Amino acid sequence: MESIFATTFTQTTFLSPLWPPSNEVSIIANFSHFSFSGRKFAAPFSLKVQKQLAIGHSNGQAINSAKCSATLSDTLSQTSTLADIDWDNLGFGFLPTDYMYVMKCARGESFSKGELKRYGNIEMSPAAGILNYGQGLFEGLKAYRTQDGNIVLFRPEENALRMRAGAERMCMAAPTVEQFLEAVKETVLANERWIPPTGKGSLYIRPLLMGSGSVLGIAPAPEYTFLIYASPVGNYFKEGLAPINLVIETDFHRASPGGTGGVKTIGNYAAVLKAHTAAKAQGYSDVLYLDCVHKKYLEEVSSCNVFVVKDNVISTPAIKGTILPGITRKSIIDIARSLGFEVVEQLVSVDQLLSADEVFCTGTAVVVSPVGSITHKGERTSFGDGKVGRVAQQLHTALTRLQMGIAEDNMDWIVKLK
Ligand code: COI
Repeated sequence: MESIFATTFTQTTFLSPLWPPSNEVSIIANFSHFSFSGRKFAAPFSLKVQKQLAIGHSNGQAINSAKCSATLSDTLSQTSTLADIDWDNLGFGFLPTDYMYVMKCARGESFSKGELKRYGNIEMSPAAGILNYGQGLFEGLKAYRTQDGNIVLFRPEENALRMRAGAERMCMAAPTVEQFLEAVKETVLANERWIPPTGKGSLYIRPLLMGSGSVLGIAPAPEYTFLIYASPVGNYFKEGLAPINLVIETDFHRASPGGTGGVKTIGNYAAVLKAHTAAKAQGYSDVLYLDCVHKKYLEEVSSCNVFVVKDNVISTPAIKGTILPGITRKSIIDIARSLGFEVVEQLVSVDQLLSADEVFCTGTAVVVSPVGSITHKGERTSFGDGKVGRVAQQLHTALTRLQMGIAEDNMDWIVKLK
């Protein structure tokens, strides 16, 4: 252990958000970076205790006794022993994990080498492109712990490709597919102890791409940062798999033709907050957006895509630049077709929606979420008597069995990490 420390040369200050639970005293630890099995880690180098202000996190989810460790061997064992949290009550709140991945590159150049760092705050110029002009993208994917002890990812190369497409739209440098996949794998394995036990949730992986260089006039930032952090999650909606209640938004729009609705830029999500907050205050689960030209065709829900079922036909709004091309959306279309449903990607009107047999949403965070009611201009239409629809249930089961490694991966969608 001594010799490893002796060969290290970089040190980072880490303010532990995990300890102590009293929120009155925090640990400042210096970490030295080292390599192990080809992966880079940061190990506690020295510790000192000092008074600090509390660091808020975790959306009310309790961390029982996650500890900041003082030895290299403890740090390594942290990666395999399950974190001590309440795995039965995971929601979709942020829980910080041990490591994040960071890689930078200058405008006009290519990303080359990134590294794992202890999770913590990042420093950025107040003039950074992302802070001033919203030059940023994010992704979302999940890692699962399977029954037979594997750790698996679901279609991560699709996220890499989508980030590259978004980067092109936003004039940003982007990691290659290989760099993206390697970074995701390293982040997941370094945070292994935060992957929920099988059936209790997943590790949500959040890759960010940011214009991190300073810029004052409108221009692409001179530097880009690719960063991945992760958080264990359970259900996105508090309803779980129970049907959600949506309201159709008629005043605000999420996207417009020629805009950025079809890429995962951060601004798309800031733009929905006003309608989303108002809808939540009125007891709705989320907002369904309409096209901004005719104001009668469905686009998507704030955080997910929407599907409408009538007899054996499943319809979903076609991808035409204003709708996010969801990876779960794409997967559900393939699964539904393989199960014998006819799936059509087309314009779906509000009238078609309100006369449907069943409605459901799909997304990485929401998985497959049945819709129990839709309120449009004050009138509420209910679906399925408060029960989960037959088609949504069938598709949810088929998808989650695949994602959790229970069903055979005939589609070649699963990437095994262990
Ligand atoms: C996801 O489903 O992964 C998303 O990115 C949606 C986000 C609003 C949670």
